[in-house]
Amino acid sequence: MLIIKDIDELKRARASMEGSVGFVPTMGALHPGHLSLIQRAKKENERVIVSIFVNPTQFLEGEDLEKYPKKEEADLKICKHAGVDVVFMPDAMMMYAKDEMSIIAPQVRGYLLEGEKRPGHFDGVLRVVLKLLNLTRPWKAYFGKKDAQQLALIQSMVQDYFLDTVIVPCDIVRDSDGLALSSRNVYLSGEEKTQALSLSRSLRIATKMISSGERNIKTIRDAMIDELSQYIKIDYVAIVDRKFQNIEQIIIGDTIILVAGFVGATRLIDNIQV
Ligand code: PAJ
Repeated sequence: MLIIKDIDELKRARASMEGSVGFVPTMGALHPGHLSLIQRAKKENERVIVSIFVNPTQFLEGEDLEKYPKKEEADLKICKHAGVDVVFMPDAMMMYAKDEMSIIAPQVRGYLLEGEKRPGHFDGVLRVVLKLLNLTRPWKAYFGKKDAQQLALIQSMVQDYFLDTVIVPCDIVRDSDGLALSSRNVYLSGEEKTQALSLSRSLRIATKMISSGERNIKTIRDAMIDELSQYIKIDYVAIVDRKFQNIEQIIIGDTIILVAGFVGATRLIDNIQV
């Protein structure tokens, strides 16, 4: 496994790669959610590149950029064990020039829900993903449905900018108790972890109501808020279609239910497609 920190070196390694290349961008502190993406990439491609880069442009002032968990040694072990060919670990100086050209998320879809709560976040995500896709030129790139809005915006960018990569959406990996795996879960104390379970529980409440025939968005949202407000500080509870547009009623096969909230100081998100 090659560990590459330099952009020119990555370009050379990529140029010498034959066959299909799969790419998994991450910010490190790898967990089984990331691993599921890597394993899928491994299955579907002859070569796999993983990037580990805590991208500063997607963190807002006052967020956890400085204390974002770093587990370089463990991450490299996981990648090696999974059969990754190249791990790209640049530093921020290398990835960004001063006063460089930018890319802005679309006004509507990029600035609601996560985009509204974290303005500019998706601009930073799209910028770095575009750079990484240009450097790695993958056949397929793998993204988790855990970050549903991020995934949708990346799919749009690939379409709008005619990029030659297939974006592969991957299912959310959860703990046995339902908590969606996230690098930020390491911030949670034991008690906070119990409180955090209300996120996935509220989604299960919603899906249960829907399977018993409930279609009214307000009724479902109210039941979710009832559950969540006992345990966390809610940021949003949203029920939208897969294009993130508001809907009047649940449409089976085209609905996504999203929650975000603070458990103590840690902000967590989760969602489910119905
Ligand atoms: P990061 O949070 O490290 O996540 C990397 C990828 O793993 C993303 O596509 C994310 O959706 C996926 N992922 C995280 N937790 C998951 C889970 N429990 N189940 C399935 N997939 C999961 O997302 C980012 O990094 C960054 O924004 C990035 C795309 C790398 C750009 O900087």
